[in-house]
Amino acid sequence: MCGIVGILGREPVAGQLVDALKRLEYRGYDSAGVATLEAGALTRRRAEGKLRNLELRISREPLSGTIGIGHTRWATHGKPTESNAHPHATDRIAVVHNGIIENFRELRDELEAKGAKFASDTDTEVVAHLVTQGMKEGLKPADAVKAALPRLRGAFALAFLFGGEEDLLIGARKGSPLAIGYGEGEMYLGSDAIALAPFTDTIAYLEDGDWAVLTRNGVQVYDAANRKVERQVQKSNASAFLVGKGNHRHFMAKEIHEQPEVVGHTLAHYLDMAGERVSLPMTLPFDFRSIERVSMSACGTAYYAGLVAKYWFERFARLPVEIDVASEFRYREAPFAPGNLAVFVSQSGETADTLATLRYAREQKQHVLSIVNVPTSTIARESDVIMPTLAGPEIGVASTKAFTCQLAALACLAIAAGRARGVLTAEDERNLVRALIEVPRHISEALRLEPEIEALARDLARCRDVLYLGRGTAYPIALEGALKLKEISYIHAEGYAAGELKHGPIALIDESMPVVIVAPYDKSARREGVFEKTVSNMQEVAARGGRIILITDPKGAQETSLPTHKTLVLPDMATTVTPIVYAIPVQLIAYHTAVNMGTDVDQPRNLAKSVTVE
Ligand code: AGP
Repeated sequence: MCGIVGILGREPVAGQLVDALKRLEYRGYDSAGVATLEAGALTRRRAEGKLRNLELRISREPLSGTIGIGHTRWATHGKPTESNAHPHATDRIAVVHNGIIENFRELRDELEAKGAKFASDTDTEVVAHLVTQGMKEGLKPADAVKAALPRLRGAFALAFLFGGEEDLLIGARKGSPLAIGYGEGEMYLGSDAIALAPFTDTIAYLEDGDWAVLTRNGVQVYDAANRKVERQVQKSNASAFLVGKGNHRHFMAKEIHEQPEVVGHTLAHYLDMAGERVSLPMTLPFDFRSIERVSMSACGTAYYAGLVAKYWFERFARLPVEIDVASEFRYREAPFAPGNLAVFVSQSGETADTLATLRYAREQKQHVLSIVNVPTSTIARESDVIMPTLAGPEIGVASTKAFTCQLAALACLAIAAGRARGVLTAEDERNLVRALIEVPRHISEALRLEPEIEALARDLARCRDVLYLGRGTAYPIALEGALKLKEISYIHAEGYAAGELKHGPIALIDESMPVVIVAPYDKSARREGVFEKTVSNMQEVAARGGRIILITDPKGAQETSLPTHKTLVLPDMATTVTPIVYAIPVQLIAYHTAVNMGTDVDQPRNLAKSVTVE
């Protein structure tokens, strides 16, 4: 996901642009650049790699000008080279872009036929030449942008700077977010409120299809039909969140340790703690009694949260749940009965695949509920109702606190569904809510395993492959553990349903293969549970020399006579909430293994914090 910033300032802007881009580093990028007007002339500085390379470039070749645009690029079209770094420019305009222009090839052919000379392999440069073409044909800058936008197919956010125009910036959005910032005699553009936080907390988000003409005196917004519109101006709390690492080495470490607090905030938002009952603060635009099927869709870690919720909805509310990753769900043309519920889970609220599937569900007349960490995001704004997770900005690319907050919100929703449908008694609800209320404390207890996990991670850092196994709601946690490890340590890891081991993966087991088994002791008077079946799987692993890393509780540790490489013992807790708490050790395993590997934990290679392209 790229980052965009624009400043219509009164002081030199080059340094401010770079500072704003630093607040967008969390999005993941591989090159960066800025452009300003120096005595009316468009001037650029760009660099491959991290922002410090751009800063070095600017220190060697200072850049004046009180108006400019900046960009951090996550390469989609064209390698992460300086020539492909934004801003892209002609002699008339400079432009920065987040997203994808799907029809860039045909536009490029058309423009080259008209004499345009391209200097990069990017889709973005097409936009610069398309608007320039309009200006060469006599259009003023705003009219040239207005004429070009309808020709662009894809999802994008754009910011334009024009040669000779010292008091003009233009922004446009179609799919990727873009915000306007209001200053004192200054105006700003940014991908999100975090980018604008150094300048202002007064922002307005453009809607899909909007474009905006900014001068130092203010802004005029136009909708997709070029009608003048007003967009709500709001106070952003992004600046309230100190997006620093605190006393941690990495954002990911800070965010792992924030979980007791933020999961507690999220639970408090949806529970009447005193009354030990669920109390959703929002009115649901549907009645769970009329819902016959829940469809769920998300990507990556958010998808695994949905997988856990599938078990909860089916168990607590007796509601069938169909769930698929968004990139598949969208193209399956799954049949929907109108009037059912579609649930989407997304930390960023900007994931293109998830948003596209949400729009498909709307077309299929589904009620749309989204669990998001950014209430002003596109997914939030296109949902009938949202359940915000109160995780605060999640900066580390690997999702941690957002995941456990998603689980907390989904657990509350599943209980509410069960109560509404009359399949969960008040006593059941009280017991489940009591278990949830204890979760923040259990997470704190789980975090005390960190020293043991730090030692374990030194072994894991020497491995090439790791297998994660789990049953029931521990199965999605096995999947999440594998994703966490692979995405930040680059060690190959796979999550599997423990019962599937004998259907293939057992062929992988040997002394060099650590097997992480997520297995709370879940046998009770009411339920047989799956722990004993998982112990059988452990025996299959042990018999082949596999190194077992068992994550369980005191009862599970006591019941397991098998020798393990390491047993991590979490506190006793209700089985229902184990997926939330058992996420902590798998997060810590991934984190400390990655630290041992020396990888870029917060911004792993090839990854972006939010994938706003399909
Ligand atoms: C998780 O650690 C990954 N960074 C990634 O799988 C992420 O969960 C996925 O891209 C979905 O993002 P979202 O929650 O912002 O939609």
